[in-house]
Amino acid sequence: MREVVRFLLGSRLIELRDLDPTQTVLDWLRLERRLTGTKEGCAEGDCGACTVLVGQLDGDRIRYQPINACIRFLATLDGCHVVTVEDLKRPDGGLNPVQEAMVACHGSQCGFCTPGFVMALQALYLAEPNPSAARINDALAGNLCRCTGYAPIIAAARQMYERAPAATDPLATRMAEIAIRLRALQDDKTLVTGRDGRRFIAPARLDEFAAICAAEPEATLVAGATDVGLWVTKAQRVLPTILYAGRVTGLRTIEEAPDRVSLGAMATYADAAPALSRLAPDLGELIRRIGAEQVRSMGTIGGNIANGSPIGDTPPALIALGAEIVLRHGGARRRLALEDYFLGYGRQDRAAGEFVERILIPRPGPRARFRAYKISKRFDQDISALCAAFLIELDGGIVTRARLGYGGMAEIPKRARHAEAALIGKPWDRTRVGAAMAALDQDFAPLTDWRASAGYRRKVAANLLLKCWIETTDPQAETRLVGAAGLAPV
Ligand SMILES: Cc1cc2nc3c(=O)[nH]c(=O)nc-3n(C[C@H](O)[C@H](O)[C@H](O)COP(=O)(O)OP(=O)(O)OC[C@H]3O[C@@H](n4cnc5c(N)ncnc54)[C@H](O)[C@@H]3O)c2cc1C
Ligand code: FES
Ligand code: FES
Repeated sequence: MREVVRFLLGSRLIELRDLDPTQTVLDWLRLERRLTGTKEGCAEGDCGACTVLVGQLDGDRIRYQPINACIRFLATLDGCHVVTVEDLKRPDGGLNPVQEAMVACHGSQCGFCTPGFVMALQALYLAEPNPSAARINDALAGNLCRCTGYAPIIAAARQMYERAPAATDPLATRMAEIAIRLRALQDDKTLVTGRDGRRFIAPARLDEFAAICAAEPEATLVAGATDVGLWVTKAQRVLPTILYAGRVTGLRTIEEAPDRVSLGAMATYADAAPALSRLAPDLGELIRRIGAEQVRSMGTIGGNIANGSPIGDTPPALIALGAEIVLRHGGARRRLALEDYFLGYGRQDRAAGEFVERILIPRPGPRARFRAYKISKRFDQDISALCAAFLIELDGGIVTRARLGYGGMAEIPKRARHAEAALIGKPWDRTRVGAAMAALDQDFAPLTDWRASAGYRRKVAANLLLKCWIETTDPQAETRLVGAAGLAPV
């Protein structure tokens, strides 16, 4: 066991004991370190003003990702390199290329959002040498600016590469040395810290994690904390025991086999996206629409399933694909079809002390067509009004298998069984699709809430099925504002 939380902040080794288990990185930076370059805007992961970089060892290199410091718990930084806007300057105190480009392009007015934008750009600068316009937009989607407007910031994103290659950036030139220091911080001891009777427990080994989870069923399991962080910052909840899964490497592994992808429940959206895009391009596109990069760097697919939300984006698609989950209690494991995990609003088939260990996603076969759609008020960084995903298997133009997964249409993510029955064994034509669209009324009686009215949800749910039919039968149809590459018609 280890009782000291250790990480690097800029060039400094930080060692902390007796930490408040839910103290956020942002509060610690601003209130204890007086590093006030990192700002607080919303305290819920939406505005990006608090963006810092977190570097983690990835083989010989360090992979830096932007995260929202406002919803990340400090103790979860153990073993990482944290970079704030104060750390970007050159050794002589001058601005680095990203900061220079922001100044030259007039990318800042009041300046409140600027450090967050600079950090999001810095992540892009280190990760990619020649990003497309779409990629730049994506990298900035988690940052809000209310006075400058985005055009000068996007111009800065282009100009930073012209000022100097990323390899010469002060942070990049220190990467090898930082990697050696980070490696020295890694161990497989269980980290335990806490204060005032509250505890933060972070095992590194999977068996130990499972044993503690079973022995302490009242503990709050924390993965990426993109939900749990808000329980603390917005709902002011006091969580007596945190069991953090982020140090368990066995929960992050991603295995790509010919017939399926197996994801550790702690695989983040960012980590899982490439494998899921290869499994089905629409699944990759759906992941790209979840939160923004800061959220995708932390949030996990296991958390998106386990939280049981009726509007989580991945369950409808995973249900349509026929995914299963592996639940673990101590040493015992059981497999469950994902659709059977959701029992009712706020109720899931998960016993106390049990956790989601893996997600098994079958690869669609050659006869399968898969489409996934997210409908939200804003394109980026928004929660769905509804989500729909369809797996249609065809043999000689006849539907042999149909799995239609919907979110936001009921109290749980759910299959549309009546609509499926209207398709199976029938030709995949406009008439039968029309019948399935009508059958959706037998499957769902959606609610009106501030995201959408019941009537809107019903109409869109049906039209998305029609859209799927159009996309899979008409190669020329233009149905997407932002097309997902590689979507082949039938
Ligand atoms: C700004 C912002 C934007 C967002 N946008 C979207 C969006 O577009 N679409 C969307 O679907 N969601 C969105 N979310 C919600 C959230 O990011 C996701 O639900 C995310 O997948 C949760 O995963 P996590 O790892 O952060 O879970 P955590 O917050 O760590 O945990 C969530 C819940 O799941 C439990 N849990 C986590 N992992 C396990 C496990 N392996 N076994 C058992 N229980 C577990 C936790 O105990 C907790 O109850 C957004 C959140 C924010 C803050
Ligand atoms: S303060 Fe707004 S995202 Fe953190
Ligand atoms: S410069 Fe004022 S919020 Fe962006």
